[in-house]
Amino acid sequence: MREWRQQAAGRLISAGVASPESDARTLLEEVTGFSGASLLLRQDQPLSSDDLARLDEVLARRVAREPLQYLVGHVEWGGVRLRCDRRALIPRPETEWLLHLALGDPALTHPAVRVADVGTGTGALALGYLRACPAAQVTALDLSAEALALAAENAALNGLSVEFQQGDLLAPVSGRTFDLILSNPPYLPDADAGYLDPEVDHDPALALYGGPDGLGLARRLAKQAATQLSPGGVLWLELDPRNAAPLAAELATRGWQAEVHVDLTGRERFVRAVQAN
Ligand SMILES: C[S@@+](CC[C@H](N)C(=O)[O-])C[C@H]1O[C@@H](n2cnc3c(N)ncnc32)[C@H](O)[C@@H]1O
Repeated sequence: MREWRQQAAGRLISAGVASPESDARTLLEEVTGFSGASLLLRQDQPLSSDDLARLDEVLARRVAREPLQYLVGHVEWGGVRLRCDRRALIPRPETEWLLHLALGDPALTHPAVRVADVGTGTGALALGYLRACPAAQVTALDLSAEALALAAENAALNGLSVEFQQGDLLAPVSGRTFDLILSNPPYLPDADAGYLDPEVDHDPALALYGGPDGLGLARRLAKQAATQLSPGGVLWLELDPRNAAPLAAELATRGWQAEVHVDLTGRERFVRAVQAN
């Protein structure tokens, strides 16, 4: 096992993978079923021919820069386990911080908070919120039927009950109001296409791009949210760090009190907005 792991890490380094040692260990853990101390104790044992064949297959896919999460099949995220495949964006660590900020929002103290997760993808934000706040009434929306199918599988996997709606942003629930509108919309400027890590090319394009400046979806969502937030309700958005301050400034000219929040690396990535009275 030790030899396979060393060779695998070497091939992953040559392929430009950012975390070669940890990816090699994860693949070994997934295929052999041993992890942590159990794997260490067995590292001088030979691999079975079945495990070796399977490891060679998943390593070749990782060397070709297929995301590790597809090879493992799931990710632990925000207190829930989420199945991951090509139907939806792989949930990112920075979005866990958005979940954390929204859960701690001082304006949202009522346990039965009504939440809309717009562009739910795997269901990450909707399910993570409900896991932490079981009395919440959570609606998860997406334009993509495939993403919603995956999100529904993830709700079942976690034993959580969420309302799903398919359509453009908040249009499927027009006329309804929410205490929290939460979204990690597609936010990359279209011109970023072609300059992303190979892993990101596996995410659906519908999940990535937000128009010429990346703010197309976020702007439209804010416009809808202005009429669909309950009094005192809050809009939380994740954005590209290039765009958080510009969007907050724009919202301030349109009747919002908007503030920028940083992620764990100090980048301006989130906007919290409430309607100014
Ligand atoms: C960046 S992904 C976020 C997925 C998930 N919320 C997360 O944080 O991992 C954006 C999501 O928005 C969805 N989407 C794109 N355009 C949309 C639209 N006009 N209305 C609703 N959802 C949309 C995509 O299908 C995708 O699932």
